[in-house]
Amino acid sequence: MKANNIQIQCIIFLIILLPIIKPSHSSDPDPLQDFCIADLKSPPSINGYPCKPTVNVTSDDFFFDGLSKEGNTTNSPMKSFVTHGHVLAFPGLNTLGMSMNRLDIAVGGVTHPHTHPRATECGVVVKGKMLVGLITSANNVVYSKNLSAGQVFVIPRGLVHFQMNVGRGNVLVFTAFNSHFPGTVQISKSLFASKPSGNNGVNVVPDEVLMKAFQVNKTVVDEIKSNLSK
Ligand SMILES: *[C@@H]1O[C@H](CO)[C@@H](O)[C@H](O)[C@H]1NC(C)=O
Ligand SMILES: *[C@@H]1O[C@H](CO)[C@@H](O)[C@H](O)[C@H]1NC(C)=O
Ligand SMILES: *[C@@H]1O[C@H](CO)[C@@H](O)[C@H](O)[C@H]1NC(C)=O
Ligand SMILES: *[C@@H]1O[C@H](CO)[C@@H](O)[C@H](O)[C@H]1NC(C)=O
Repeated sequence: MKANNIQIQCIIFLIILLPIIKPSHSSDPDPLQDFCIADLKSPPSINGYPCKPTVNVTSDDFFFDGLSKEGNTTNSPMKSFVTHGHVLAFPGLNTLGMSMNRLDIAVGGVTHPHTHPRATECGVVVKGKMLVGLITSANNVVYSKNLSAGQVFVIPRGLVHFQMNVGRGNVLVFTAFNSHFPGTVQISKSLFASKPSGNNGVNVVPDEVLMKAFQVNKTVVDEIKSNLSK
């Protein structure tokens, strides 16, 4: 009888309540107050970080100059550098559902193919010539275009994408996201440079999985792992 009651409640929920629940089209939830400067010393909760007390808020909380500095593209084999302007760098963004990054790519540089699990990305090229491409989830179709200064691109939320400097000078791009913390999954590192959780050594991506997924032998898997750990 108890199971029946639960089933009936579920059916009532699906038929009557589901259609009146407002669908959410935004990435992060709407703010409930003017602002909520993140208190980064407290642990995050479901809608972001707790708010710093209003008496502690200053003008500086609404500004961030981290994106004014050129990223160091010489310390990476990719010859590119992303400077993050998300909530951890710019606490004033907390709960506001948006953030910005700066991307510098030196001549011959690329970005790791990556995704942002929590945000759509919209970027403007400020300097240089850049190829940007995205790959669909359904059939792995690539859409790409070479952009120059002033031109804008969009990467729908969660899709794998990449950038490449195709010009003779440095590329500078500013990107905006509809999340205060979009997250970045670098495909190669997530598969070949992951860290085990716990200390019992069992929580790893088995070589067998990587060998079958990429159809290569263990020597190749080990080589990629070793290259990515440098
Ligand atoms: C707010 O300011 C008071 C007084 O300076 C300080 O003791 C307190 O730690 C501050 N709180 C936060 C969350 O910054
Ligand atoms: C960039 O990083 C490299 C390697 O870590 C370092 O040698 C160089 O001094 C850095 N350049 C700047 C401008 O910070
Ligand atoms: C972008 O430019 C590069 C270099 O000029 C060229 O090789 C490539 O085919 C172009 N890609 C697209 C999508 O137009
Ligand atoms: C592994 O694959 C590489 C690339 O196909 C090949 O050169 C190499 O001989 C293979 N090694 C073994 C041990 O089978």
